[in-house]
Amino acid sequence: MTALDSATHVRFDDVSFAYQDDNSVLTHCSAEFAAGVVHYVVGPSGCGKSTLGLLLCGVMSHKSGNVKLPKDASPTMVLQFPENLFLTDSVEEELALLPDAQAEEKALSMLADFDLHFVDIARKSPHRLSFGQRRLFAIALQVSLGSKVIVLDEPSLGLDEVHVHQLANWLGSASKKGTCSIVITHDLDLIAELSGEVHILGHGSFQWHGPSTEFLKNRDMLLLAAAQ
Ligand SMILES: Nc1ncnc2c1ncn2[C@@H]1O[C@H](COP(=O)(O)OP(=O)(O)O)[C@@H](O)[C@H]1O
Ligand SMILES: [Mg+2]
Repeated sequence: MTALDSATHVRFDDVSFAYQDDNSVLTHCSAEFAAGVVHYVVGPSGCGKSTLGLLLCGVMSHKSGNVKLPKDASPTMVLQFPENLFLTDSVEEELALLPDAQAEEKALSMLADFDLHFVDIARKSPHRLSFGQRRLFAIALQVSLGSKVIVLDEPSLGLDEVHVHQLANWLGSASKKGTCSIVITHDLDLIAELSGEVHILGHGSFQWHGPSTEFLKNRDMLLLAAAQ
């Protein structure tokens, strides 16, 4: 992994990866993810979207090629079902586990964006929040460290319309502040709600990328993106 000189984008250069030697997941895969834009990584189940996220965040190492990140980016990966990772019995205890006051402040401000007010939920078990509130609280905790690069793996899976809307609003405003947000998804409603750049992954590399407005007009691409 190399640091980019300008803090502008994330780049995959000719990246290949296999879990087992005879079964490649990514083959000479290249892509650019500019900062300040919401990027959607779409493609059929099993095509390597989550693997790409894990490589980008340095959880695993690619076999060849290069992943370039802005200097000191320390990307955050919000895994699928982040609400499974709560460690305590109350919202305030979860917040107290954050490493510093800055992270806590950021998480609280995100909660307000999600219409979750600390005074109302401080003593509640995070497990007793509604499904959507639980998901958004878990995301707020995980991105509160303020990384410039965030990968979210299917963050809207199972969310109702209201919570998808809140998630989209937050993603849009984080991007406006310069975050490079990479959202792995099958959710066409989310893509329709918040415009961005769509990257279609298939057969080990990116097959197409372009504006979400163009993507949403193409039936073949939509079928591919929705394929579970
Ligand atoms: N830990 C693992 N060990 C071996 N194979 C894996 C592992 N994780 C995923 N795979 C395989 O790698 C391929 C890509 O998986 P994944 O990145 O999870 O795809 P997606 O997120 O697009 O559904 C699939 O064939 C999957 O079965
Ligand atoms: Mg996946």
